[in-house]
Amino acid sequence: MADQPLLEVKNLSTHFKTKSSASFTARTVVKAVDDISFHINPGEVLSLVGESGCGKTTVGRTLTKLTQHSIGKALFRGQDILPMSQAQFRPLRREIQMIFQDPFASLNPRLTIQQTLAEPLFIHKLVSSRDAAIQHIKEILEKVGLDASIMKRHPHEFSGGQRQRIGIARVMIVQPQLVIADEAVSALDVSIQAQVLNLIKQLQRDNGISMLFISHDLGVVRHISDRVAVMYQGKIVETANKHDIFDNPQHSYTKKLLAAIPKVPTYQGALSHAT
Ligand SMILES: Nc1ncnc2c1ncn2[C@@H]1O[C@H](COP(=O)(O)OP(=O)(O)OP(=O)(O)O)[C@@H](O)[C@H]1O
Ligand SMILES: [Mg+2]
Repeated sequence: MADQPLLEVKNLSTHFKTKSSASFTARTVVKAVDDISFHINPGEVLSLVGESGCGKTTVGRTLTKLTQHSIGKALFRGQDILPMSQAQFRPLRREIQMIFQDPFASLNPRLTIQQTLAEPLFIHKLVSSRDAAIQHIKEILEKVGLDASIMKRHPHEFSGGQRQRIGIARVMIVQPQLVIADEAVSALDVSIQAQVLNLIKQLQRDNGISMLFISHDLGVVRHISDRVAVMYQGKIVETANKHDIFDNPQHSYTKKLLAAIPKVPTYQGALSHAT
């Protein structure tokens, strides 16, 4: 069905039981994600915004099955991925990819860029020969704006922005349907943020990818999103079209978040306003 959402999250909760500082045996429950529902249509970018600790990363980790959910559903093309075992989920791992905040931590320092990018191709059986892998790697490096001559080098030889481009290449090389980007540009210098953000947006558009774009930075969110979901203390308090969120916010928390945006964002001029 053309208008079926690619992802439909229904009444999702992820709670953590932690030791109480008050006593040895007592447990407290952190309701990191507390009964949230949203959907993402094919080719759409939904941003998830909210202050630190409101549960954004936990949503991303739950949807990629890095964190166990407590209750609820996450229908990917109509199929609930949350009750799946890791083995059942494996074929979908290629389709649901995550871009992390810290490109250095997410790249293996011992692998060359060629090995880093060849690994997912072989794991997901997308190529059967080394030559075919190298061809794919050359193409993806060009798409993320890196020269093919870097293939033999290691992650520490690159700048933060270049490393995030490599991280993006590793995600895009397996042609995902859904990308969850968690603070993907937050660790980068402001001058580099705009370039990497434009790259993510371009690849998302060119490949018709659906994206959950997690960020606390509303300037970035304004640029990249179609719709925005505002999260506060584990709950989604408002979801709307980007223009409605920015021009006509309904919830008092959304209004508070918007009021906190600096009046003159330092790098907005560098963003290409393709929307
Ligand atoms: N593994 C865990 N065990 C216990 N509590 C956790 C765990 N992971 C996250 N939390 C708690 O869940 C809440 C939500 O954390 P989360 O990392 O999802 O927030 P966030 O919105 O991504 O914050 P930030 O903007 O700082 O990245 C926080 O109170 C956090 O301390
Ligand atoms: Mg986070």
